[in-house]
Amino acid sequence: MRTEPAWHTFERVADSYDEVLPFFTMIGEALVEALDPAPGTRMLDVGAGRGALVGPALRRGCAVSAVDASGAMVARLRAEHPEADARVMDAQDLDFADGAFELVTAAFVVHLLDDPARGAAEAFRVLAPGGRFAMTIGAAPLRPEPTAIQDAMDALFAEFSAYLPPEGGMGSAIAPQELLAEAGFVDVETRHTEVVIDVPDGDVLWDWALSHGYRAFIEDLPAERREEMRLRMRVVPGPGAVIQRANPLLIGRKP
Ligand SMILES: C[S@@+](CC[C@H](N)C(=O)[O-])C[C@H]1O[C@@H](n2cnc3c(N)ncnc32)[C@H](O)[C@@H]1O
Repeated sequence: MRTEPAWHTFERVADSYDEVLPFFTMIGEALVEALDPAPGTRMLDVGAGRGALVGPALRRGCAVSAVDASGAMVARLRAEHPEADARVMDAQDLDFADGAFELVTAAFVVHLLDDPARGAAEAFRVLAPGGRFAMTIGAAPLRPEPTAIQDAMDALFAEFSAYLPPEGGMGSAIAPQELLAEAGFVDVETRHTEVVIDVPDGDVLWDWALSHGYRAFIEDLPAERREEMRLRMRVVPGPGAVIQRANPLLIGRKP
């Protein structure tokens, strides 16, 4: 387990987060579309980052609260989405009343928490009966495009993980179905949302990797391995390369 909290990395990347490639923005749009919240839905987005889900939810007329442990992320979110109630807050210790929301979302967050079960329990607590908790933690290949580079990227990260210190990288492996069931959620279902994003060249790919959570992995490599990884990543995208992600979105209901 990494000793530095995950959100420290996001303090450092807040200014470039999602500006190199619109990765989280596109996924956020797809996630909100899959959830299809009705206008007026009281929604809380935890670990909201710069608001990838907040913007689409506001455009649908939801009443959106958004929290993130990183003050730099919250400052950007407030500037971009002044209509949202955005606050610096730990997802594991929410300062909201029981039953305050009808929808709680957490995109690419729960696996970053020191205590994922506590994060899920807090989502359960602040939901009203019948409310939904929706989370995504990662990606799986689905109908891969011939030019998709995700497998090559994954292979590169798997290879270089051998050079990480014992506590290096970010996040932990969690079993989302079990996590939701243990928190008390029922009727858990999985939907897949898919995005395909053009990658112009290898330098953009490297800059993108440094603009989000991959950065923690890259920073934890010894300097010579970091440079080796940069050179290897630069040659990954061929002509027409795309990042293709199919994100399993798990949705549980509070009875
Ligand atoms: C990969 S980003 C995802 C952001 C956003 N959900 C999106 O899809 O763009 C993870 C976010 O979780 C936040 N985070 C990490 N640990 C947290 C915690 N304990 N409480 C609240 N937010 C946290 C980070 O600061 C970061 O903004």
